[in-house]
Amino acid sequence: MLSLADKIKNNGKTYFIQTFGCQMNEHDSETIAGMLQEAGYLESPERNTADIIVMNTCSVRENADNRFFGQLGQIKKIKERHPDLIVSVCGCMMQQDHIIKKLKEKYSWVDIIFGTMSIHEFPQLLKDCREKKEKVMSVYKEQESIIEGLPAMRKYPFKSFVNIMNGCNNFCTYCIVPYTRGRERSRAPEEIISEICGLVADGVREVTLLGQNVNSYGNNADFDCDFAELIYRINDIEGLDRIRFMTSHPKDLSDRLIQAFADCSRLCRHIHLPVQSGSSRILKKMNRRYSKEDYLALVDRIRAAVPDIALTTDIIVGFPGETEEDFEETLDLVRRVRYDSAFTFLYSIRTGTPAADYPDQAPDEVKHRRFEKLVDTLNAITAEKNALYQGKTVEVLCEGPSARGDQGTYGGRTDTFKLVNFDAPEDMTGKMVNIKITDAKTFSLFGEIADADLQK
Ligand code: SAH
Ligand code: SF4
Ligand code: F3S
Repeated sequence: MLSLADKIKNNGKTYFIQTFGCQMNEHDSETIAGMLQEAGYLESPERNTADIIVMNTCSVRENADNRFFGQLGQIKKIKERHPDLIVSVCGCMMQQDHIIKKLKEKYSWVDIIFGTMSIHEFPQLLKDCREKKEKVMSVYKEQESIIEGLPAMRKYPFKSFVNIMNGCNNFCTYCIVPYTRGRERSRAPEEIISEICGLVADGVREVTLLGQNVNSYGNNADFDCDFAELIYRINDIEGLDRIRFMTSHPKDLSDRLIQAFADCSRLCRHIHLPVQSGSSRILKKMNRRYSKEDYLALVDRIRAAVPDIALTTDIIVGFPGETEEDFEETLDLVRRVRYDSAFTFLYSIRTGTPAADYPDQAPDEVKHRRFEKLVDTLNAITAEKNALYQGKTVEVLCEGPSARGDQGTYGGRTDTFKLVNFDAPEDMTGKMVNIKITDAKTFSLFGEIADADLQK
């Protein structure tokens, strides 16, 4: 921790953080912001005028890497105008040797490099960089346990991410994450519960529990609490309205977790269950460790317990060796499951993963054609599912003015994760509002406040 004298010395200096990638990175950026504020730095409204720029990178697909290098090129120009600027880069890209090599060879204006397991060291690295006027770096490939007690600058006062574990042990053959985030480590349940109690006391109503595969929470840990048990315990926290989690691997989703959906009133009726492909043959090559039939049976079990649960997924098209028949299996699965929505990705070769060396990479035009067909199929189903909301009254946690920017229009989510926009005479941010849906679109719902007495 920095001394008071250090904090005063930093006064007036500003920072700007640019975040790429998933919620893990968003949450890491909140921690980085928290540490910078604790050290006396202030947030800059724009990148051009900041004294410190932090770029928190993602490496999950090639275009994420490319976007980062593009932005770093622009930062060179800022540094030319503002030589005291400190350029810091962190996140998943920094965990890869070929990226570090490229940065050192071609991007001399980078001052600080730190990895996903060195976030807690950032204040010290910054101090060293400023005082010694030299470049500094900290990247670890593994970490024993999760560092507790770091501050966080939360983006929203009423909802929060809560990390429950780091790392991934699954090694899906296309995926870089196990190499950038290391092996699985779970936080002790007491730490998680006490963090959430603190958040609730601060006004947080909704928590999203984060992990690359929350279903393996507690595996190989020195405490006895699995993910379902953790949910039951969190559900007992008074004052908390909603519990969400991301992401859940289908291979080890337990029956007790399904039961938790039925039992735990605070657990939102939404599950993101990435399928990746509907072809058992491709799933095997992806090392997903379930078949199409296993997945469909799991969906049936979930829906039997919670009939109105919303299901979302991730799908990759054009994995090496994917034939037209394999792709048809994916379309068939999508039509059978009828997802509420889905993220779709073109397979992207990631250096260092097994699939990068598979011989039968699909041509770009095949990938694009399949991608479009899949998106059309998914969107039609999403629109049909949203249409079922027409005329219904739903409870929405208002997240703020609508992203569309219309004056007096607010946006929020249902517990089933549907985006709802509505007009309101006053600011409803952070409130639970009952909204009657008047217009169901493919990607959002629109409605009006149903009953003024029911706003909490
Ligand atoms: N741990 C999460 C996924 C994190 S990455 C899980 O297993 O669900 C988010 C999504 O990115 C994955 O679900 C996958 O669909 C996609 N993805 C990962 N690697 C990819 C690659 N090499 N090419 C294309 N999409 C990829
Ligand atoms: Fe990647 Fe698979 Fe781990 Fe998800 S479970 S992070 S897709 S390796
Ligand atoms: Fe990207 Fe790392 Fe998340 S690779 S998707 S930021 S875990």
